[in-house]
Amino acid sequence: MTAAVLVVGSANADLVVATDRRPAGGETVLGGDTRILPGGKGANTAVAAARLGADVALIGAVGDDAHGRLLLDSLRGSGVGTDRVLVVDRPTGAAYITVTPDGENSILVSPGANHAPAPADVGDPAGAKVLVASLEVPIDVVEHAIAAAARAGVRTVLNLSPTAKLSDDTLRALDVLVVNEHEASWLLGTYSAGSGDSADSADSGADSADAADGADGANSAGAADHGRLLDLGPDAVVITRGPDGAVVATRDEHGRVEQITVASPQVTAVDTTGAGDAFAGALATWLASGATVADAARRAAEVAAVSVTKRGAQPSYPQLDDLS
Ligand code: RIB
Ligand code: NA
Repeated sequence: MTAAVLVVGSANADLVVATDRRPAGGETVLGGDTRILPGGKGANTAVAAARLGADVALIGAVGDDAHGRLLLDSLRGSGVGTDRVLVVDRPTGAAYITVTPDGENSILVSPGANHAPAPADVGDPAGAKVLVASLEVPIDVVEHAIAAAARAGVRTVLNLSPTAKLSDDTLRALDVLVVNEHEASWLLGTYSAGSGDSADSADSGADSADAADGADGANSAGAADHGRLLDLGPDAVVITRGPDGAVVATRDEHGRVEQITVASPQVTAVDTTGAGDAFAGALATWLASGATVADAARRAAEVAAVSVTKRGAQPSYPQLDDLS
């Protein structure tokens, strides 16, 4: 029996240290105590979905070590199926995370075991409702999973995090592409409009970033950019905007770009680590239960907002009962 939500992605031990500021090259800065928390974009997404009541399984890998056991405990404790989590002879992925007093984080990932899965490890997604992938695992695994899901009639969601170049076929097979504003700018700079071909030009990347960051805001400035993102192939693009919520872009039957802005509850951010993964997991959960992309994004923005009010990624994700 395949789970309703299949997550393809990483599992990392997050080694988190609070610091007033980040060290520059060659500099030593003293921070707080190290906390070791379950993380990784795939495991985070799966845990977020399971806490909301989804029937979910993770496809990924951990090492045969203490960090791997931490991850498996967190996954199983939240009800995530781990039959397709390989235990391999490489260190479990680790993420070295600094968090500053404003709740902002920076992350260095050592992928380790996350590099182990091969396309054949994805198995048959038939029977699932939604497959959601992120990009801390090999690209060929993600591309295979999305193609197999699309063939089997399973809806596909890609959280383009961290950014990586994908084939035109993969982008076209996507039902929903989820990006933050930085990732949206990267996409616009990396792919030329309409063709999906690589422009590979640093100049066009900088221009797009300027346009997306313009004072008009994503909503008014965004129609043309959102059209270009949709031209890459997905049926819907969800641009997450942190405290400003999200924009859902689709095309109507005349090919016109339709944008729906989804608000975020206003909260005080303590730690934004994993908020995007919480959003992706919640989005997949509501899509699997038949919600529209806009309604699913609305709930996902609530879930992400709750997650930033608490430290860590997985430990901060709400249960369905915790939502208003
Ligand atoms: O998106 C947040 C996650 O990114 C962290 O949990 C860390 O493991 C890195 O994968
Ligand atoms: Na958090």
